[in-house]
Amino acid sequence: MQDIIEFIRDIYKTGDFIPLHAPTFAGNEKKYVNDAIESTFVSSVGEYVNSFEKMICHITGSEHSIATVNGTSALHIALRMVGVDFGDEVITQPVTFVATANAISYCGGKPVFLDIERSTMGLDPEALERFLKKNTIMKEKGCYNRNTGSRISSCVPMHSFGHPCRIDAIVDICNRYQIPVVEDSAESLGSYYKETHTGTFGRLGIFSFNGNKTVTCGGGGAIVTDDASLARHAKHVTTTAKIPHPFEYVHDEVGYNYRLPNLNAALACAQLEQLDRFIENKRRLAKKYADFFNSRGIFFFKEPEYARSNYWLNTIILPDLASRNEFLEKTNKAGVMTRPIWTLMNKLSMFAHCQADELLNSRWLEERAVNIPSSVTP
Ligand SMILES: Cc1ncc(COP(=O)(O)O)c(C=O)c1O
Repeated sequence: MQDIIEFIRDIYKTGDFIPLHAPTFAGNEKKYVNDAIESTFVSSVGEYVNSFEKMICHITGSEHSIATVNGTSALHIALRMVGVDFGDEVITQPVTFVATANAISYCGGKPVFLDIERSTMGLDPEALERFLKKNTIMKEKGCYNRNTGSRISSCVPMHSFGHPCRIDAIVDICNRYQIPVVEDSAESLGSYYKETHTGTFGRLGIFSFNGNKTVTCGGGGAIVTDDASLARHAKHVTTTAKIPHPFEYVHDEVGYNYRLPNLNAALACAQLEQLDRFIENKRRLAKKYADFFNSRGIFFFKEPEYARSNYWLNTIILPDLASRNEFLEKTNKAGVMTRPIWTLMNKLSMFAHCQADELLNSRWLEERAVNIPSSVTP
């Protein structure tokens, strides 16, 4: 254990506390934020918000992008855009951050948790197909769960820790069942599935720019889509559904104050300029970790062979729960921040009543996976 702690300390060249993921501000951050302050446009109108959206389109290859206050609000709106409504069911994975399941609940939807694959840590297309084949019937308005009578109005796969799941297989299956896919790509900015950026396979995708992500603006999010009318509507409801007018305040539906402030967007633009370098750096770090852990017989999670991952959070898989707990105890005690993966969503009190399959791989992973320090290195 001591050799692991020393190895990580050596990478970060410090005897002090090592966080799991700290941001790096090495570019135009101060300049752009100062500029936003001087312009007085610090709130939801301003040039940096527009530039941010253009940069997201450029990076992801998506036609449209809508800036939001965080990834959770982006997910909430993306789910509303595909029509998730009260009483609907939404398929997702139990291995995810709570925001995925929360956003489904904000729409009045009920998450259905299906298993992940061990090779991707993302939603298993076979588990998805099995569930749909066994439990659904098609009606005029789409796919219905024949046991509960509820409509299945979306599927939300997630690219865990930046590693692309088998998104094309998932989208294929969902297309056959007329279920729109919303990609939770909160963690996977800069990650590609077979040369195509994650987040662009579903009807809509979302990204997070929280302080712990590869690129941050304090708090921020983005929706991406190729559908012009969905993009227009998403922009409208994230900006309080106000009808443009020189002076009157008229709103034509219940909207949200979800637009990213220009101040945060200024920070985001400066960070996005450095994305390629951050990812090269993170991939180099992952390679160092892979060599080190493999030489010690510890399984280091590598990108699936079809993918180019941003390696947002590096993950090791330990033999069992006892060794996982020992690893967490010793590293955290030594000031090296490590974390288990999230408690499975189906175990949280507010989602414990939700439908789920056996979740064998999810349970397996929960007992063994640990995230280790992954900040861009000095
Ligand atoms: C998988 C996943 N979904 C959604 C979110 C929500 O993003 P935010 O924290 O920006 O609201 C996050 C991260 O924070 C996440 O990791």
